Amino acid sequence: MCGIVGYVGADKSIEVLMGGLRRLEYRGYDSAGVAVIDTAGHIDTRKRAGKLQMLVDELAERPLANGATGIGHTRWATHGGPTDGNAHPHLGDDGKLALIHNGIIENFNELKQELLDAGETFFSETDTEVAAIMVGRAYRESGSLYESLRVVVNRLEGAFTLLVMHENEPGVVVGARRNSPLVIGLGDGENFLGSDVAAFVEFTRRAAEIGQDQIVTIRQDSVTVTDFAGAPVDLKEFEISWDASAADKGGWSSFMKKEISEEPEAVAKTLLGRVHDGAVVLDELTPIGDDVLKGIDRIAIVACGTAAYAGMVGKYAIEQWARVPVDVELSHEFRYRDPVLTERTLVISISQSGETMDTMMAVKYAREQGAHTLSICNTQGASIPRESDAVIYTHAGPEVAVASTKAFVAQITALYLFGLKLAELRGTLDAAEIAENVTELSNIPGKLEQVLETSGKIAELAHWMANTRSVLFLGRHVGYPVALEGALKLKELAYIHAEGFAAGELKHGPIALIEPGQVVFVVVPSPRQGSLHPKVVSNIQEIRARGARVIAIAEQGDAAVLPHADEVIPIPLAGRMFEPLLSVVPLHIFGMELAAAKGLDVDQPRNLAKSVTVE
Ligand code: G6P
Repeated sequence: MCGIVGYVGADKSIEVLMGGLRRLEYRGYDSAGVAVIDTAGHIDTRKRAGKLQMLVDELAERPLANGATGIGHTRWATHGGPTDGNAHPHLGDDGKLALIHNGIIENFNELKQELLDAGETFFSETDTEVAAIMVGRAYRESGSLYESLRVVVNRLEGAFTLLVMHENEPGVVVGARRNSPLVIGLGDGENFLGSDVAAFVEFTRRAAEIGQDQIVTIRQDSVTVTDFAGAPVDLKEFEISWDASAADKGGWSSFMKKEISEEPEAVAKTLLGRVHDGAVVLDELTPIGDDVLKGIDRIAIVACGTAAYAGMVGKYAIEQWARVPVDVELSHEFRYRDPVLTERTLVISISQSGETMDTMMAVKYAREQGAHTLSICNTQGASIPRESDAVIYTHAGPEVAVASTKAFVAQITALYLFGLKLAELRGTLDAAEIAENVTELSNIPGKLEQVLETSGKIAELAHWMANTRSVLFLGRHVGYPVALEGALKLKELAYIHAEGFAAGELKHGPIALIEPGQVVFVVVPSPRQGSLHPKVVSNIQEIRARGARVIAIAEQGDAAVLPHADEVIPIPLAGRMFEPLLSVVPLHIFGMELAAAKGLDVDQPRNLAKSVTVE
């Protein structure tokens, strides 16, 4: 939620800020704004409600003088509607100070009242302006931007990343973070701050973490970090493994189309260096330790949205392979229901962004209760891995489209690697069985390429169905989370009613929804996988008899499905556990194409943000 970028360097801050905002726009697109200290030493701002393009137009109409110091913001509205007035930056100290914010200042009402009583005037309905005014007042007393921000953050409650600059200190941007993301980009004669590394990867691949409750000051040639009490903190540098082009559309019509095309690569890169001679190599688990992993008696997977569906797929595999009970829970439910956690529980969090606040809170809670924590995350330097004992990074590359696609298959891959490793440690699979599964996993990228060849057919189907108002998705076993994911994509992207059901549950209620013409996608298990296939084929017949229009995703050559389905989308042969990695892709394509057929923005669906950094 909300993208933040800060820059100190050469007189090119507008290009840097606008480039950063373009890459961060997935975080929120209710409004955007920039502030620059121009070469004459004055702060000037431009901000507009709506997508970043509105700000681009505004800057074309009313250009901003360039300068060496600036901050920029793209907003996902929480307090105060998406208006020009509520857009960031907000000003303090009679316009001499500019501030941007990501998060929610929970005690803002009480602080606002205090400021009103002191005679301050507010120009917006945001919680952010409270911080701008407070830092401005503190500056008048201390004359130090760093000190002013430090004093103020100690009075704020909630989650926040704040960046601030002041006319009296050109060449300085100060930032603070609590429960909300911020990373440093280390350049040559220039330094950057961003909500994530995408903000500055175009300019530098050297980055550094900022820990919880820390304050950073960037200047052209220096970066210093302290904690909220003022004690110095050492910089923890890391190298960004993506290059800038990975975060660009690269000729595709949308980020989502590009990212779906990268699903094979996302799996391949997540496997890279982690399988060797038919065994799984996961050195990342060292901080937890083999003995602990052998002794765990329960796994709880916590995640939200698409990541939670990846977790559900992982549950089937980990339980079957490693014989440990696995529960999958939405992070926000887990955290507040007093779950039973012991030192023999492993909590696995899954998050593409590594910033989802609900998931981060669940991880913190789990640690406090003494459980072991493992993060599966796609974004280096993100908060959730830092809160966890160990991390397995998915190497899907930057995912920019708000609806998650390639991260999903990468998350399942990481969970499978973990499940196989755990099975090896616990002796529940022998080396030959592990090798067989490793081979299956290694063959997935090639099979995914074949699935992508069905894109044209799925696009045609979606375009015929542009006026469809409701779509149901059925699946069984590992196909069930795939059905849920298919429905989520359609809701997120095409704004139509969509629901996913476990196929076995059909007769217990959902079948009442079937009326002539109702479109139902059915994820059919392979006929080679035993008893489930005929059961799902029976389900197809039951809904077909009631007038449903059935689109089956079935294994190539599955002759039993053909007579009963209106359309069949074939997927290559794979072992049962590996089917979701293939069958989900047609559903990703379908959601995207249906939204495109309706003329909607597939990368930035309404009301959503990719990284939900508020609870
Ligand atoms: C948001 C996005 C979803 C995503 C979910 C979890 O709701 O719209 O696409 O699956 O967050 O995000 P995470 O970054 O934790 O995987």
